[in-house]
Amino acid sequence: MTKDKIKIMTIFGTRPEAIKMAPVVLELFKHSDKIKPIVAVTAQHREMLDQVLNLFAIKPDYDLNIMSEGQTLFDITSRVLDGLKKVLDDAKPDMVLVHGDTTTTFAGALAAYYSQIAVGHVEAGLRTGNKFSPYPEEMNRKLTAALADLHFAPTVVARGNLLHEGIEAEKIFVTGNTVIDALHQTVKSTFKFSDELLENIDYRNKKIILVTTHRRENLGEPMRQVYKALKKLIADFPDLEIIFPVHKNPKVREIVNEELGNLPQVHLTDPLDYEPFANLMNRATLILTDSGGVQEEAPSLGKPVLVLRDTTERPEAVAAGTVKLVGTNMEDIYRESRLLLTNHHEYARMAEACNPYGDGLASKRIVQALLKFYKLSDKEPDFFRAERK
Ligand code: UD1
Ligand code: UDP
Repeated sequence: MTKDKIKIMTIFGTRPEAIKMAPVVLELFKHSDKIKPIVAVTAQHREMLDQVLNLFAIKPDYDLNIMSEGQTLFDITSRVLDGLKKVLDDAKPDMVLVHGDTTTTFAGALAAYYSQIAVGHVEAGLRTGNKFSPYPEEMNRKLTAALADLHFAPTVVARGNLLHEGIEAEKIFVTGNTVIDALHQTVKSTFKFSDELLENIDYRNKKIILVTTHRRENLGEPMRQVYKALKKLIADFPDLEIIFPVHKNPKVREIVNEELGNLPQVHLTDPLDYEPFANLMNRATLILTDSGGVQEEAPSLGKPVLVLRDTTERPEAVAAGTVKLVGTNMEDIYRESRLLLTNHHEYARMAEACNPYGDGLASKRIVQALLKFYKLSDKEPDFFRAERK
């Protein structure tokens, strides 16, 4: 039976899911004649989630508020499952949309499955092939794919991974990544930082490295190696400024403070709101990160990225030459960063802007696919094709 209005619940809990789901939520609201959007947040992250909800003016219908200091994977999974049971019983959505690869994602998809509710997976099909790298994200993605009814793959590579695992082609839509939708709405050449320190940095004449680190598999010695490489770089380059918005995880903060506290060329800040962070990426010389989202955003801004990991599920920008995997060995990070700071030719080669991950229309394609799936529209979403260099 065809319904004339469908209830679509988005479930998310961490900063990157919120940034990447915000454009989808806003697009769902544009179709409120046919869709009733419902927003449920787990608040696996609290402050870092709220930063994004405020920016995009999204008011959740349900908030599980599960975060606790030092939470384990067991804590997150059990609290999300338990909390969502009541939410799903109450809201009775036709479909739940989850995003990417966090433990909220997997537990959200599992809760929907237990309640026999259809699951749509946004940012589906990313794989490294190594179940412990990234940990636990690689397994979260695979388990979510097994539970999902519709798969919104950002790229053809991701689609290929899903086909390889036996997912039927008609259930996969290549949409581009919604992070590029969010980025397009946020980066502006005229942007002014409200933070005085960020506003007053001499972006034209200084070398600026923007750093973020948070991966569970990098906690401890790998992170220490990264920070030691940064120390070695500032000793070499008096005109280098490092801006490092430090993740809220106390395990990350402790090592950062031990290695990089009280160095005049290193600016340690709290996590930045998405708007200043995205605009800071746009002004940085170079980005060092173990983040997934940053690897997708920086190429479209033409910013070279050194990825502080041994594996990536995002090979497209590596192939395009904007992103290089450098791992977490101090000497490797130092050498590769130094090369980019001193060799104009190398820098220019990496700094060529490219858009392997999206064109800003991913959320429109996702909502179009949902309307088609529920027979509320005849229009097929078009297939996102990346620009060729
Ligand atoms: C989580 C995701 C990871 C994602 C990352 C994005 C899992 C298992 N991990 O990792 O996939 O890449 O988010 O940042 O799903 N904290 C706060 N305030 C906040 C956020 C975090 O205090 O706003 C602290 C809490 O003490 C919390 C700790 O950080 O216990 C770790 O948070 P958690 O979500 O468990 O892991 P992340 O490393 O953030
Ligand atoms: N980001 C942000 N403020 C910061 C650091 C990152 O808004 O201080 C944004 C960044 O632009 C990207 C997302 O957060 O969109 C990435 O989140 P994170 O690195 O925490 O997670 P991952 O993408 O690795 O899952």
